Amino acid sequence: MISYSVTVKDEVSSTNDCIKDLIAQGAPEGTVVRARRQVGGYGRRGHGWTSPEGGLYFSLLLRPADHAGHAPPSLCELPTLSLVAGLAVRRGICQLVPSEEAACIKVKWPNDVLVVYPGDDLRKLCGISLEGTSRALCLGIGVNVAPVEGRACVRDLADVTVDEVLESVLQAFAELYEQWLACSFAAFLEEYDRVNALAGRVVSVQQGDERVGGAFAGTDETGRMLLRLADGTLRAISSGEAHIESMA
Ligand code: BTN
Repeated sequence: MISYSVTVKDEVSSTNDCIKDLIAQGAPEGTVVRARRQVGGYGRRGHGWTSPEGGLYFSLLLRPADHAGHAPPSLCELPTLSLVAGLAVRRGICQLVPSEEAACIKVKWPNDVLVVYPGDDLRKLCGISLEGTSRALCLGIGVNVAPVEGRACVRDLADVTVDEVLESVLQAFAELYEQWLACSFAAFLEEYDRVNALAGRVVSVQQGDERVGGAFAGTDETGRMLLRLADGTLRAISSGEAHIESMA
């Protein structure tokens, strides 16, 4: 089982940058850097990630190819780790809030965790980034533990500390990471689609010059989102930002 070594810093540019430096220095798997504030936090596709005090910002060093007894994951399997991280964040936070609140927490393909309140009030609770090579990865996780600058959070998380959220998420991740190393993403397909905010929705995603729209039809073993197009064909989408258009 992965064991963690957590360093907490007051302010950094980005915890991802700290972990990438540590990768270059040969730091072991399980190294975690958490920052109370980031001044250069970033998300996917070059977006900034505003990181004032009160949120949870951390990055985790993973070396999935270095596990004796497991075949090294193939390059096409690696992106599924960020989907697994989404499940871990969801499970970790669900442990800390009442069950009615937990029922509103969903993953959203590919790398987000949302809170979906009645009336289709969707809020981004967490964003996840994944960078690196097959030998060493930097998994970055930002959770809106407290409401910051318009980004809302789970109502009942207000009473929970950032450290408690970190501990619960890391614990959940340790278990799921073991399973992922042994069985890859196939082990999570049922759970991922069951708690997916896209289930039962019409979704669109930009693919180069083309906007592809269709009914969400699940996720495949390599982590691709499946859309049923208007002509009945199934299209597998491997990257992009999924936009919810309507209920299917
Ligand atoms: C996204 O939604 O686009 C991903 C956001 C990832 C944010 C986290 S916060 C901790 C780590 N450090 C960063 O600079 N980014 C990630």
